[in-house]
Amino acid sequence: MYPRLIIDKEKYRHNVQQLKQKCHQSNLSIMAVTKSYCALQELVDVLNDEHISYIADSRLENLKKLQTTRPKVCLRLTSLHEIEAVLDYTDVSFQSELPTIQALNDAAKQRNMTHQIVLMIDVGDLREGHYYKDDVEPLLKGIQACEHLVLIGLATNLTCYGGVIPTPETLQKFVRLVDHIECLLGRSLQLISGGNSSHIHLLGTSQTFPKINNLRLGEALILGRETAYGKDLDYLNQDVVILEADLIELKFKPSLPEGQIGMDAFGATPMIEDVGYHWRGILALGRQDVDYHQLVPLDDSIRLLGSSSDHIILDLSHTKTRYEVGDVIRFRLTYGSLLSTMTSPYVRKVYVK
Ligand SMILES: Cc1ncc(COP(=O)(O)O)c(C=O)c1O
Repeated sequence: MYPRLIIDKEKYRHNVQQLKQKCHQSNLSIMAVTKSYCALQELVDVLNDEHISYIADSRLENLKKLQTTRPKVCLRLTSLHEIEAVLDYTDVSFQSELPTIQALNDAAKQRNMTHQIVLMIDVGDLREGHYYKDDVEPLLKGIQACEHLVLIGLATNLTCYGGVIPTPETLQKFVRLVDHIECLLGRSLQLISGGNSSHIHLLGTSQTFPKINNLRLGEALILGRETAYGKDLDYLNQDVVILEADLIELKFKPSLPEGQIGMDAFGATPMIEDVGYHWRGILALGRQDVDYHQLVPLDDSIRLLGSSSDHIILDLSHTKTRYEVGDVIRFRLTYGSLLSTMTSPYVRKVYVK
């Protein structure tokens, strides 16, 4: 049945092993991020086999179901409405707000347990975290008053919202604050997590900081690319996951719609290029599953023209292969298309044996 994702665990294992080796050469542990593939257990098992230090996800549903002996980390800041679930399903959670931290402490106290937290630091990407220029002392004092929480580390996230690339200048801001916080605490912290897949271009260069001892890696492991410049990494597999969808129609038609033009299915005015008559294929896959702009056909002579909720329309006029109805078209994925196809219940997940 199509559409489906073909998932190759051994290709994923190769990526995990390669990045683990590279990170270890730079004295970095790995926190593997599983959210892009909805924490599929078959891939989490690879992380377990390879003794990855931490398993992280942003969704509590994923952290609840995934099986691991490694510490489970919740990356997304805790909602005040999910305090109990964070204690139920995670060992470590990322935090930045004192009211949430105090609520977590109160709930942990009720259970007579301790929970570990990591404080997020924002050095300019402007997503979550304590802003590095602000006074951190009141927040630290608040955390230290929480007897049922242990602050185990600090983390910063880059190249997510603001697109800020990790450079020595930017990382220096983080490291300076780490030193300051450790000085205020009077102890060193076990986890100094310096970034995500956008950090990889710095590995093996002199531009890293010994203070940073961990990276949180998602996209690089599954898609084989670094995310500062969007480059494929030649020592990794880019085809751990391939999307397959089948052709349900193939007809020779004009490219311009005929008649008075209003809106398309999504309320937009269609802007369509006139390329004359051409071979139009329709895939049984649509915008409900994926944004077609985020698909990369393995046959690069295929042109993607557009989509509606259940269909993607292709121009197959210039392909070497003569496609027929029933043929399967294969795609490489970007981060966006990986996320949405993994999340769509209509896209089956199949493993290479
Ligand atoms: C806080 C945090 N760290 C790390 C990651 C992983 O990022 P990447 O997939 O670029 O490695 C994410 C995103 O999933 C995140 O939200």
